[in-house]
Amino acid sequence: MRTALEAANGVGLQLPTKSQPIVTLNGDTRELIHQLPDDTFQCVVTSPPYWGVRDYGVENQIGAEPDLHQYIKHLVEVFREVRRVLKPDGTFWLNIGNTYSSGGRKWRDADEKNKGRAMPYRPPTPPGLKKKDLIGVAWLLALECQKDGWYLRNDIIWNKPNCQPESVKDRLTVSHEYLFMFSKSERYYFNQDAIKENTTNGNGRKNKRTVWSINTEPCLDAHFAVFPRALIRPCILAGSKKDDIVLDPFYGAGTVSIVTKELGRKCVGIELNDEYLDIADKRAEIVQTSLNLEV
Ligand SMILES: C[S@@+](CC[C@H](N)C(=O)[O-])C[C@H]1O[C@@H](n2cnc3c(N)ncnc32)[C@H](O)[C@@H]1O
Repeated sequence: MRTALEAANGVGLQLPTKSQPIVTLNGDTRELIHQLPDDTFQCVVTSPPYWGVRDYGVENQIGAEPDLHQYIKHLVEVFREVRRVLKPDGTFWLNIGNTYSSGGRKWRDADEKNKGRAMPYRPPTPPGLKKKDLIGVAWLLALECQKDGWYLRNDIIWNKPNCQPESVKDRLTVSHEYLFMFSKSERYYFNQDAIKENTTNGNGRKNKRTVWSINTEPCLDAHFAVFPRALIRPCILAGSKKDDIVLDPFYGAGTVSIVTKELGRKCVGIELNDEYLDIADKRAEIVQTSLNLEV
């Protein structure tokens, strides 16, 4: 078990430097984020646990709350701290998917292809909803964050052409998730040029659109969904400059640090499960630095 202060040298948190561009903290983000100084990060990119979808095998994990509103409250509180540590002109990019009410089932079996999808429990149907209802948790969370003070600036649809097949017979297979972009202030740093797309006729460049088609990317070491690097590259390119520090408060297998390393940014990651931090360290070690990546 790593200690929370492993990265802190026992003298308070040491932020990333040129020679140590990635700093990780092991523990509950709800406690550790308080140790981070105000107005520090230019950009925050994260994918928190989705509600009742995966068991990350650790106590205090977010996402296993029996009550939906408790789950949302926990995340809004974490993201309030995210706002405190974000620079006044910073942006926050939140990837989140929707879930369905369980229809009365109390657990979910392991899936051969995706072992992390086994759950020892399913949360009960939230009051006011019916079994089989689409809960709309992504939007509930986004709107609570907006009420809490964030500027909600974009809802980006992440279209997954290679999404998991579903054995459902009475609705469509879900093939998208959301990526919400928030800012701390009305005006903020946003490098539109860094992420422009080619026009359809190929003769020019246009502003990036809000539907992004990106295949999911397997991570052989981790039994849970990691970000595809292509999903977060535009967020980091538009939301930060070289040498800026990016935070991921739900770091998992550290995909954010791989992309910050590729793009010459620094990174702080907070993760509850120390085994995931070992995977993250291994992945970050093998990244080749390259500043000429396509978005
Ligand atoms: C969806 S995964 C993040 C995956 C990550 N984006 C990647 O690409 O590897 C969510 C992560 O949140 C972690 N987590 C859950 N509750 C937490 C808490 N209270 N504090 C810190 N991390 C937590 C889980 O262990 C899991 O690794």
